[in-house]
Amino acid sequence: MAVDFGTYHHSTYEESEKLRTIIYNKFHEAFKSISLDRNSAIKILDIGCGLGFTIKVAADFYTNAIITGIDNFSGSLINSSLNKARTNIEKLGIKKRCTVEEADILDFKGKFDLVISNLVFHNMGSARFQAYKKVYSLRPDYFITGDIFFAGNYENPVDFELSKISDMFLPVTVKNVDEISNSFKILILKRI
Ligand SMILES: C[S@@+](CC[C@H](N)C(=O)[O-])C[C@H]1O[C@@H](n2cnc3c(N)ncnc32)[C@H](O)[C@@H]1O
Repeated sequence: MAVDFGTYHHSTYEESEKLRTIIYNKFHEAFKSISLDRNSAIKILDIGCGLGFTIKVAADFYTNAIITGIDNFSGSLINSSLNKARTNIEKLGIKKRCTVEEADILDFKGKFDLVISNLVFHNMGSARFQAYKKVYSLRPDYFITGDIFFAGNYENPVDFELSKISDMFLPVTVKNVDEISNSFKILILKRI
């Protein structure tokens, strides 16, 4: 049976699948551009892993990586659950090196080489700046986040975001993903 990675808010299942195809390729481009060995058993954290899509994105590229997905299942992926996420990991045949835990990034501890996240931080409001601090405390070489950056009161929302985290992360690249929307970007951040 096919793996169901769910439906994003404000989207249909078919639209979500189209988004996932684009995001999959863009994350792989991002992985190619950073200096982490794709064959090593690096430790990766996926924040807000939902039903495991972004775990699969990382697992397909980093074929020996040990990947932990965390999610608090707060609802921005329709009808998702820890049980469904774990079933997906099993169906994908990556259970030996990929796990899913119910956890909130704001309470999470550990040490990882790479942290990734897709479509999570924009829903957290100003609490996302606490989440960036948490990511910093996990001591990854890189944090790669795909997200929507709203204009709000700022002329350039990405510059605003980067200015708020400049004591923790330096931007390696900001990738525009106009195929999705002109506010969707992938930030490749290097921990200072
Ligand atoms: C739009 S979904 C994205 C899921 C997955 N990354 C993907 O691309 O398919 C956002 C996910 O982030 C989770 N989330 C939101 N806030 C979180 C937090 N503070 N800690 C952990 N997960 C969180 C939600 O429960 C939801 O499953």
